Amino acid sequence: MGNFQALALAVAVLSNAPSSTASVTYAVPKTVNTGGLTYAPVDGAPVGLSFEFFAFPKYFTAVPATSQCLANWHSISGIWPPIRIGGTTQDRATYDAASADYVDYTVASTTDAPTTLTFGPSFLSLAGGYSGSVVLGLNRGYDNVTNTIAAAKTAVGAMGNLLAIELGNEPEYFASAGQAITSGISWTPAADAASQDNWDIWVGAALAKKAIIQAGVWLSSPSTWGNAELIATENTTAQQYVGTYCHHNYPGGTVQSLMTHSTIASNVNTYKSDIAAALAVGKPYVFGETNSATGGGASGVSPTYGAALWTMDYSMRAVANNVSRLYFHHGTVGACQYCFWGVYDMGAPYYGATVATAALTGASHVAVLDDGTTDYAGYVTYDAAGNALRVLLYNSDYFDGTGTRASQTFTLTGLAATSVQAKRLTAANALSRVDTGSPPTWGGQTYTNGNCVVSGTETFETTAVASGTATFTLQAAEALLIDLQ
Ligand SMILES: *[C@@H]1O[C@H](CO)[C@@H](O)[C@H](O)[C@H]1NC(C)=O
Ligand SMILES: *[C@@H]1O[C@H](CO)[C@@H](O)[C@H](O)[C@H]1NC(C)=O
Ligand SMILES: *[C@@H]1O[C@H](CO)[C@@H](O)[C@H](O)[C@H]1NC(C)=O
Repeated sequence: MGNFQALALAVAVLSNAPSSTASVTYAVPKTVNTGGLTYAPVDGAPVGLSFEFFAFPKYFTAVPATSQCLANWHSISGIWPPIRIGGTTQDRATYDAASADYVDYTVASTTDAPTTLTFGPSFLSLAGGYSGSVVLGLNRGYDNVTNTIAAAKTAVGAMGNLLAIELGNEPEYFASAGQAITSGISWTPAADAASQDNWDIWVGAALAKKAIIQAGVWLSSPSTWGNAELIATENTTAQQYVGTYCHHNYPGGTVQSLMTHSTIASNVNTYKSDIAAALAVGKPYVFGETNSATGGGASGVSPTYGAALWTMDYSMRAVANNVSRLYFHHGTVGACQYCFWGVYDMGAPYYGATVATAALTGASHVAVLDDGTTDYAGYVTYDAAGNALRVLLYNSDYFDGTGTRASQTFTLTGLAATSVQAKRLTAANALSRVDTGSPPTWGGQTYTNGNCVVSGTETFETTAVASGTATFTLQAAEALLIDLQ
């Protein structure tokens, strides 16, 4: 075989190899608000949980992993993750001041959500016992503001941790659900906005509390069901009672599309105007209820490691786009594909949320390093003194376990340290699931099924920095959190 043939063979071998482009290079500004990046403030612990209204007491009294999974994040960030209690069943719930029970309802099967329920003062005391902040969703659909005000007043007394009250959940579906508030009305975005404004005033005035309402609360896309449209209808009387604006977001899709960075960036970008409308009136914007797919999740998608990578990257991208908090929804216990934990098993997405929590811990600001158009992402955070704190790198190339796993190198420039330590998020492949015996690992550690206790030895990788430059290799479907200090 002559040299020419040898070369041709080598080229053939190379072209069959996993695609490997040139190193992705990010210049890391040493101090905040420099280097031409766009910076967003970071709100303490932005990664939170949402619990479906009727299921909240069960999560907090009958699912042992709940307290530990929340405590794990408190150990990382020093802040209890924010929670929100609400969902479709908040608009099926009637407050019963005389009830001794958290909730009362009847269902045919334990995996059904109730069509109607009552809740007592102990429900609100249970919420008040949580160490972190709570957003409480109350009923607007039944059109009984007297009942909602009675619940709200008890909540204010029982919950020192009450951050906000939501009035109704996804009201764009009120008419199709036959909710009383739509009776005799053409239930349009304008009708809902007028209803929200009135309820904000009635409930806010009854509580004598400004900035207590988390408004918006739709799932259907802005601008039709959006905060710019709502805010335009608010006079100062209504607006003074609003503390936060929110939207729900469930992007859906396949494992591959869900975890792909450019898809995540464009999904978050669709909320840009909605976010800007809230910031323009000086109020924070949150994803008040979110997860990978609606209806409790998609069975082949939501429990996977690919969904964990989505959870991580989506949280980072949202916060970098001025979303103050994200509340990842947890539905019916035992019928919840996207849940971070359950009675028996952990869900892979808990790992992605944990990495985002770790990445944002102690950060005052975050900036995106990439342009959002490729599979590769980078985020840099800054501490309160304005110094670069951490970089999170993400290779969202898809790997489903067949063929060879590609890898991508990332080069960071502008680093101040002489060597850096990093923790890696990895799993066998994007389709790996905890419930089939293939959990991800985060810095070599896993979370134990049933109780969420961390297990294994925390493992760091050390990389030398030469002239401010360091290179890192990430396999397809991996993330690396690099400590810069
Ligand atoms: C509305 O709520 C109040 C207070 O809880 C209750 O007394 C009343 O019966 C309710 N009205 C309707 C129409 O259900
Ligand atoms: C503000 O708007 C509400 C309706 O949302 C209305 O009832 C109220 O009278 C208005 N207040 C002022 C001062 O215009
Ligand atoms: C986020 O808000 C800050 C102001 O707090 C602004 O300077 C920045 O441009 C916003 N970022 C994005 C991505 O819109």
